[in-house]
Amino acid sequence: MKIVAINGSPSGIKGTTGKVLAALLEAAKKEGAGVQLFELGAGTVKPCISCHTCQIQGHCVIEDALQPIHKAMLEADGIVLASPNYIDDVSAQLKALLDRSFSMYHCQMLNGKYGACVVASGGPRYERVVDYLMDKIGNIGCWKVGSMVAAGGLIHDPEYAPAIEAEARELGAKLARAIATRAVFPEQIDARHDTFEVMRWLVASQKEAWPFEYDYWQTHWKDTVIKPE
Ligand SMILES: Cc1cc2nc3c(=O)[nH]c(=O)nc-3n(C[C@H](O)[C@H](O)[C@H](O)COP(=O)(O)O)c2cc1C
Repeated sequence: MKIVAINGSPSGIKGTTGKVLAALLEAAKKEGAGVQLFELGAGTVKPCISCHTCQIQGHCVIEDALQPIHKAMLEADGIVLASPNYIDDVSAQLKALLDRSFSMYHCQMLNGKYGACVVASGGPRYERVVDYLMDKIGNIGCWKVGSMVAAGGLIHDPEYAPAIEAEARELGAKLARAIATRAVFPEQIDARHDTFEVMRWLVASQKEAWPFEYDYWQTHWKDTVIKPE
């Protein structure tokens, strides 16, 4: 069992996002998961340049920190996306990774894996960041296992840190157990089906323009249905 966590915070392991991830991954390890953490803070994953090579040929023309992260995501059973709240959104570092994963969304490359998200926020207006990240976890094909928020810098306060770390450990254990039991979340099936079928239609409608994606669907998901009629 392998879990890959991606930290979009420039504060690294000393920041709130990093501390929550550390507790989450420690708990996942105790449940038997192998864990791998990628730090995006230094901006080593550059923004997408809209060349569409990923859709046409199946690889990105920008060679940077992205390729080993994508490889790890494809090999993983579980993915954790983590970001600070930056102006009511995810950090630019994490957004760059999501944009560069364009073709992974179209091809539903993470279909059937399990995902969770972590948001660190200065204040209490973080809902749209959490909703966005969970939505993206689902859109790429993962089952949505759970999310958590650490707000107000309280993880640096000895009075509040234990409760936040406990929540992070709970989420890490829940993610690992979902993977181990191949958990199914019935309430997510309709949305998973809709996304899958929209992507199937989109890629088929662009067969000539996006040959890699079309071939990927033919090879991987041609006969796959999320919700049988
Ligand atoms: C550029 C920037 C933008 C931010 N925007 C928001 C915001 O819109 N709302 C909020 O509640 N906190 C905001 N914050 C505060 C961070 O979300 C908060 O400090 C968070 O804990 C940082 O996580 P980290 O320690 O992992 O870097 C912002 C911080 C920075 C540096």
